[in-house]
Amino acid sequence: MSNAFRIPHIAVVGLGLIGCSLVKALRVRGCVEKITGYDRNLDSMELALRENIIDQYNEDIGDVVRGADLIILSVPILAVRPVLEMIAPHISDTAVITDVGSVKGSVAEDVAHVFGAEFSRFVLGHPIAGSERSGVLSADEHLYVHHKVILTPEPHTAHDALALVRDTWCAVGADVEHMSVSHHDEVLAATSHLPHLLAYSLVDTLANNHENKEIFNYAAGGFRDFTRIAASSPIMWRDIFAANKDHILKTLDLFSHDLAFLRTAIEQGDSTTVMGVLTRAKVARDHFSKILARRAYVEPMKTASISYIANPGRALSGSFRVPGDKSISHRSIMLGSLAEGTTEVSGFLEGEDSLATLQAFRDMGVVIEGPHRGRVTIHGVGLHGLQAPPNALYLGNSGTSMRLLAGLMAGQAFDVEMTGDESLSKRPMGRVADPLALMGAGVETAEAGRPPIKVKGGSQLKGIHYDLPMASAQVKSCVLLAGLYAEGETSVTEPAPTRDHTERMLKGFGYDVDVNGSTVTVRSGGKLTATEIDVPSDISSAAFFMVGASIMPGSDITLEHVGINPTRVGVINILKAMGGNIEVLNEREVGGEPVADIRIRSAQLKGIHIPEDQVPLAIDEFPSIFIAAACAEGETVLTGAEELRVKESDRIQAMVDGLVTIGVDAKGTEDGAIIQGFGANGSFGGGEIDSQHDHRIAMSFAMASLRGSAPIIIRDCANVATSFPGFVELASNAGAAIGIEGGDA
Ligand code: S3P
Repeated sequence: MSNAFRIPHIAVVGLGLIGCSLVKALRVRGCVEKITGYDRNLDSMELALRENIIDQYNEDIGDVVRGADLIILSVPILAVRPVLEMIAPHISDTAVITDVGSVKGSVAEDVAHVFGAEFSRFVLGHPIAGSERSGVLSADEHLYVHHKVILTPEPHTAHDALALVRDTWCAVGADVEHMSVSHHDEVLAATSHLPHLLAYSLVDTLANNHENKEIFNYAAGGFRDFTRIAASSPIMWRDIFAANKDHILKTLDLFSHDLAFLRTAIEQGDSTTVMGVLTRAKVARDHFSKILARRAYVEPMKTASISYIANPGRALSGSFRVPGDKSISHRSIMLGSLAEGTTEVSGFLEGEDSLATLQAFRDMGVVIEGPHRGRVTIHGVGLHGLQAPPNALYLGNSGTSMRLLAGLMAGQAFDVEMTGDESLSKRPMGRVADPLALMGAGVETAEAGRPPIKVKGGSQLKGIHYDLPMASAQVKSCVLLAGLYAEGETSVTEPAPTRDHTERMLKGFGYDVDVNGSTVTVRSGGKLTATEIDVPSDISSAAFFMVGASIMPGSDITLEHVGINPTRVGVINILKAMGGNIEVLNEREVGGEPVADIRIRSAQLKGIHIPEDQVPLAIDEFPSIFIAAACAEGETVLTGAEELRVKESDRIQAMVDGLVTIGVDAKGTEDGAIIQGFGANGSFGGGEIDSQHDHRIAMSFAMASLRGSAPIIIRDCANVATSFPGFVELASNAGAAIGIEGGDA
């Protein structure tokens, strides 16, 4: 351990777990020359000396702090003022004092009272660490490693004093953060003081019960977990409850109100409301567990960096099912939430994008059970039953969530803000804000039409006719969904057919929708009625395997239960036009959507000029089609696909760059690309690909590796989880050889 940071003399007042652990950790790391200690209790001082935690003690506190460079007060909150009064005459002008109390406002007042309001050498601190154990013998030199320590410096705190205290905590491995005094006390009242109060109170209630022997005999995990902290020091907690009274009462009132609400729901047998509380709490707790394990993406979504090491693979084989359709999964939550009655969904995609939509509706008060193995139960609240969310809706990487929700939010009575991760924050939202403004909605975007989007509540929308300036199902859906709330009739005409799931599903929920050629019309005043939804497998996820099996000689796979909605089958049409061997088998209709099993056998593909009318029908599949084109005989030309530049990444650039890296002659054009295929005898070279955090770029290059001659390393693949959880496992079972580095995907 480096001795660069060294304090000549530290005095510690109060020899409990917190103070002793700190000086012990400093001593072990060689950061202190001399430690003097004081405690009201002589035995504790003797014990601390014997344990080599302090070098000397004295029953006269003045002697202990005299000449000390740093004085650490580790005493119950209400003892701070008398201790400060006792030490004040004995400390040097340069000494720095700090404390470790769980309430900062009362300590700040004590310091001002004893030393004056401008005293600059006291640094208020609070380590978020500890245990229910107390006393010298529980001292633990590792207690603070990777634990947060909150410092609450005030404007008059001296820089050198703050630096000394910060360095002291850093030296023992803590992560130091700053907060204001009042914010600290408000946050701690909720996160620490209230739980302790509840634990003490619950144990007291049960202990006073005349059947307490029974209770304690049979109290297993639940009681033990919930009440562990009631074994903490009563004096310490009595003081905290007194010192942070106002904040604690406020959070206690809120809790009492919510508890009464839950009580009423139980009394009245209102199981939907009970489920609402439990499902929301479970999601929050699961998220918290991930934060504790340092796995969660804490806003703004910072995903662990995951790379794929994709090695040359075998021929693909087998019959299997890829996850549920993303577009339909989003819409099942949206329409199910706004329906009257309970909607049951199966085959729901448990990817981060559709989960973002699910969470958004939970945040707006909808009770949603699951997902559990693709099953979701949505207790619809009706078109006018959503409630204002407590915070901005965080939609992660999901453009579909943000654009469709913008339309729905425009019709609500409350204000909403929608935010997303770094990639979503760069995507154009003017395309939805513009038509919504024409309908009379109050929609604001950040600069250049980027997220966050703020939607004002309470606007009376008017129906419009809108000619879509681009072929976009998201914009079409946004306007139609706003139309459910707009006066009169709302219609949209699209320049080319785009996916029509919104129209089909509205009809499935019993809502009238007129489709006349390229124009879709809805009127307000209707209602949605709950239904059952069986989500087919996503053809966009199936596409990776269609391409993989086509390019890898000897492959023969069957993809089961794939959605083959005519507005989505561009990838099949294009691969067939390139000479692909694809059979669509066992066609059937499930819940208003056509579905089939698709058999793909390898074939020597040839380059083509991709017909422009296929572009909107294959809009998400081009990254994998580019891989197919590279393996084809001759040139493939794509035009009319400028929309690819505003997807999760600029997909033209990302694919062309990646292809060039692995030895393909490819170049981007304004609205597409020209790719020279290497044909039957060629293969991809090795190299390192930047997926630009785009799930489809990552999976496309993973499939390219089947025809690789050396490993392809693909960076930043965590977002594969947005649309295709379990991709690597499924691909590996089928014949790919993809390793994962970093993260835990
Ligand atoms: C989607 C529409 C398409 C597609 C996206 C999902 C939808 O976007 O790329 O993955 O569910 O409506 P655009 O509407 O921007 O083309």
